[in-house]
Amino acid sequence: MVFPFKKRAKSSWLDVPAAKAYDPTADAARKFAAEKAATAAAPVEPKLDLEVKAVTPVAEGVIAITFVDPHGEELPEWAPGAHLEIHTPAGLIRQYSLCGDPANRMEYRVSVLREEAGRGGSKELHDDARLVGKLITATQPRNHFELHPSAKYLFIAGGIGVTPIRAMVAGVPEGAEWTLLYGGRTRASMAFVDELVEIGGDRIKIAPQDTDGLLDLRTALEAIDADTAVYCCGPSPLIAAVEQCVEKYAPDSKLYFERFTASEENAAARAEAAKGDQPFELELRRTGVTMTVGADERTLDAVIKHVPGFDYSCEEGHCGSCWTKVLAGEVDHRDDGLLTEAERATNTEMYVCVSRAKSDKLVLDV
Ligand code: FES
Repeated sequence: MVFPFKKRAKSSWLDVPAAKAYDPTADAARKFAAEKAATAAAPVEPKLDLEVKAVTPVAEGVIAITFVDPHGEELPEWAPGAHLEIHTPAGLIRQYSLCGDPANRMEYRVSVLREEAGRGGSKELHDDARLVGKLITATQPRNHFELHPSAKYLFIAGGIGVTPIRAMVAGVPEGAEWTLLYGGRTRASMAFVDELVEIGGDRIKIAPQDTDGLLDLRTALEAIDADTAVYCCGPSPLIAAVEQCVEKYAPDSKLYFERFTASEENAAARAEAAKGDQPFELELRRTGVTMTVGADERTLDAVIKHVPGFDYSCEEGHCGSCWTKVLAGEVDHRDDGLLTEAERATNTEMYVCVSRAKSDKLVLDV
């Protein structure tokens, strides 16, 4: 399926068409899918029980949550860029990047933006006055956004996207040069400003949109050379703009980014495609069940009804968690750029949170 490119208003970052070259997020998700495929028959990864030690406001609409082991033991290691997938007390599954100090094995820290238009996970965590002391189940830290060795780094953070970048700037390898361009709606809404300035001093450019306008990506990217790795985390329009500007002004630099939400193009294309949804037959071969997925039902819903521990998270086709091997049938792929056109054409894998069947029947290796 070809997703239509949606034109954006001039004067935004996005005056040039999206580049479709190397996509580090898709690359990381593919690696994750390969790992998942390789370990499909392995025992399920043990979950962590974490106790909420503290909830602290760190900016307007943003809280930091600190977790510890309930028995006071050390927690599993992690590296900058890693995230935790947590099960909220209400049973929602959400991913949050770790933003504490990897050397401190006694606690994890994540930050959570209250998303009024979200699916409820952040609001639940923000509104739970009794969160401190509660036990939360989480996965081991996973990392699809690793900090690769480089002589120089340019970090670009937008809003809550600063969370993994906060850990990265503190973990830059000895001797490497780095700068950070950090934008947000207003200064009050931007988390960790003081901590970042303490770590990086004048290597950090803080640019609230209400006083400084949009981040000056062109100047930042024209100033770097091919030895500079660019790391970006933030809302989809920022990531799209950085992709385009790297292509235009720093084509020899390597770009790594992490997406928190589905791209606007993918969300619009999925909404359009959903208008023509038809029921189809779904067989979960290893589970030994066959069922009908209704026109208004997701493939994922049908799967988790019979496989309660099935791994998924974003439910928007961009995180890679719900990757599944396809044994038979033709897939209607709707993931957010996780699979290439060539991979889609093989009909051997799919992301079940968003994708469906083109054929009357799909058989999954579940
Ligand atoms: S891609 Fe994130 S749950 Fe499917």
